[in-house]
Amino acid sequence: MNEAKATIINYKKMEQIDTAYQLQPIEQRSYLVNGEIEAWHGQTEDVYSPVYVDDADGLKPYRLGSHPVLNKEAVLKVLDAALNAYDNGRGQWPTMRVKQRIECLSLFARKMKTQRNEVVKLLMWEIGKTLTDSEKEFDRTIEYIIDTIDALKNLDRESSRIQNNGGIYAQIRRGPMGVVLCMGPYNYPLNETFTTLIPALIMGNTVIFKPARYGVLLINPLIEIFKTCFPAGVINIIYGHGAETAGTLMQSGKIDVLAFIGSSRVANILKKNHPKPNRLRCILGLEAKNPAIIMPDADLKLAVAECLTGTLSFNGQRCTALKMIFVHQNISTEFIEMFTKSLNQLKAGLPWEKDVSLTPLPEVGKTDYLNSLIDDALAKGAKIMNNGGGVVEYNFMQPAVLFPVTANMSVYKEEQFGPVIPIVAFNDIEQPIEYIVNSDYGQQVSIFSSNADTVAQMIDPLVNQVCRVNINSQCQRGPDVYPFNGRKDSAEGTLSVSDALRVFSIRTLVAAKNNDGNNKLVTAIIEGRKSNFLNTDFIL
Ligand code: G3H
Repeated sequence: MNEAKATIINYKKMEQIDTAYQLQPIEQRSYLVNGEIEAWHGQTEDVYSPVYVDDADGLKPYRLGSHPVLNKEAVLKVLDAALNAYDNGRGQWPTMRVKQRIECLSLFARKMKTQRNEVVKLLMWEIGKTLTDSEKEFDRTIEYIIDTIDALKNLDRESSRIQNNGGIYAQIRRGPMGVVLCMGPYNYPLNETFTTLIPALIMGNTVIFKPARYGVLLINPLIEIFKTCFPAGVINIIYGHGAETAGTLMQSGKIDVLAFIGSSRVANILKKNHPKPNRLRCILGLEAKNPAIIMPDADLKLAVAECLTGTLSFNGQRCTALKMIFVHQNISTEFIEMFTKSLNQLKAGLPWEKDVSLTPLPEVGKTDYLNSLIDDALAKGAKIMNNGGGVVEYNFMQPAVLFPVTANMSVYKEEQFGPVIPIVAFNDIEQPIEYIVNSDYGQQVSIFSSNADTVAQMIDPLVNQVCRVNINSQCQRGPDVYPFNGRKDSAEGTLSVSDALRVFSIRTLVAAKNNDGNNKLVTAIIEGRKSNFLNTDFIL
């Protein structure tokens, strides 16, 4: 209980909040297994919002409800359901025609749209994402589903022809891998999870989905829809602690694909849990420490605007966020002045309030961690360059601009994943390039310059260090049709709308020697439409 009042964010009593955004606690007592919404009578866990509410006891984190904490036994039953639905590749779903799987997913997208308000509201309450960004996350997810369907139609059209090479003709299609375990991150608990879950499903795999650590209840409005749109056991949703759930599943050796977005530490533990790592395919989205490099000839106004959204969208809690700014020493004073001035304009508040961009942080203990980074930097010679930077009020932190940051500070290396902005002044381009070369991460970089020669000279060494070089713009994942990946500890596998279809499938072909007997046989199969795989039908 907190008696003190907040001064940065104007927290409210529930009845003072716009009725469109008021929320009554959700006590979730079920999970999805084998096409059934199974009641759970065991342990549960409370869910608290990063948003504080003023009630009779004072200001405290709002209790959003609770969810099941499945035990090992329940998790193993879920695994059985997914294995049975896959049935070693002989199940209804993995052998179904692509057209029918597309119909299931299209129906899902249509029904999902009806839950927009509910999911958006939960995104705001569970992770503190602003209304605009929560709506964007929902809409982008629907768009991703539609684009995935289109990409699969293209892929299917390309695979519907018979090839003839070296006296052997063949039909090559992409087939499913088996049972996929999907685990998403708390910063995009809907969108990023669905960027693996949707392609995994549509390629014919069966899926066990464990929602992120924060952003759990927002899946609740979609459970019934999942149940009605897919055959039993094709999609299963579990809740609980990592070791009991994901750990148990991996130890079984029966997970064929791990799709995980989170830390490399957890990813490595999960991978090591699998007794037959050669059978496991991993699609991982991990840490990043994307730098911005601002050259003396950069358009400073543009660089400031891009670095501001790059460092502080969703309070810096994006894997693609700019987490280090290298600015040339000739312009560093001007840049910092302009940057802090723009930062001062950012409004802090409740996620649904108009024009708010800074909000409370969902992770327990996060402000303590960020403070430890700030203290370490200050002790080693950095200063906080903006008024009020680093001030903490409950679980909200005012962004802190740190300068000059040096290599001996923790914030130079560690991924802060929050509103702390380290700035380094450089005089030799080798310094930021060396930083990237020596970093454990290799996702993206942003370079700011208006000189073609300067930009060209930076592109060539950088493209082999990271996977996306952004010119005069912040780092970002989108548009989702572009490849999203990383080198070193930043990722494993490439995601994009079309690449995701590939990573959740394997090429498999039916081949026959070109002779009269085989020609007759294959023609009879195709003309009689006897096989779901060997056929030349295509979807328009
Ligand atoms: O957290 C990582 C997200 O994939 C970033 O996506 O660049 O669109 O915010 P975004």
